[in-house]
Amino acid sequence: MIEDLIYIAKEAGEIIRQAHGTRFSIEIKSNNVKNLVTEVDKKSEKTITDFIRKKYPSHSILAEEGGETKSSSEYLWVIDPLDGTTNFAHGLPIFSVSIGLQYKGETVAGVVYDVMRDVIYSAEKGSGAFENGKKISVNSNEIIEESLLVTGFPYNVAENPEKVFERFIEMLKVARAVRRLGSAAIDFCYVANGVFDGFWEVHLNPWDICAGKLIVEEAGGKVTDFTGNQISIFNKTILSTNGKIHNRMIELLNSV
Ligand code: IPD
Ligand code: CA
Ligand code: CA
Repeated sequence: MIEDLIYIAKEAGEIIRQAHGTRFSIEIKSNNVKNLVTEVDKKSEKTITDFIRKKYPSHSILAEEGGETKSSSEYLWVIDPLDGTTNFAHGLPIFSVSIGLQYKGETVAGVVYDVMRDVIYSAEKGSGAFENGKKISVNSNEIIEESLLVTGFPYNVAENPEKVFERFIEMLKVARAVRRLGSAAIDFCYVANGVFDGFWEVHLNPWDICAGKLIVEEAGGKVTDFTGNQISIFNKTILSTNGKIHNRMIELLNSV
């Protein structure tokens, strides 16, 4: 089925790429001016869900813009049709399509399509992680002071939930540098291919996490919450690293 995930992520990505730089309608979600959805998010999602409903009509779907289609199937597709909507809405070319597939509650396949770089990150459970078909792995850096980290902020950041400001400052002081790209799915993939040493964020959703988590794990990395516990895609808090700096990051995240 991985070929289907890749195929449909690319189809959806093509729609997004063609819309990049053009005019499209933008709406505000849940009364928060920071939280946007565009007509392109919806078109991308429809392309993906139409494909699944046609080819796998019995499967369940959890997609960001359309909510849940529940069935008795053991298969669940977890879809972010456009991860990085704020970037996309402002014309910043960093956004992705993220599709994860679960079987009996376990993620068995995941694909993230970095649309403007035309790069597919993919993983199947037990078979490694790939970037455009080439095997990737996390880096081996053990020194937090030499690490390049990435994070993201939830749409209610102004309320400083989960001490996001204090945690950001702490990491900024210790790491070599901290980035904020604006697409959680891409953040995971850059941990998987060794560009970033670590990624942390609070208040994520299952569609932000599902594919990326498997890709990092299959690349030899680690994904937990801030106490080091295993997480499911329904956990909101994630720490994803090369494994080597994981404990040090936990210490720092909990030192504030
Ligand atoms: C967002 C992006 C961003 C992260 C936000 C997410 P969206 O997803 O992944 O990097 O910081 O928490 O909600 O809304 O663009 O699909
Ligand atoms: Ca998202
Ligand atoms: Ca989205």
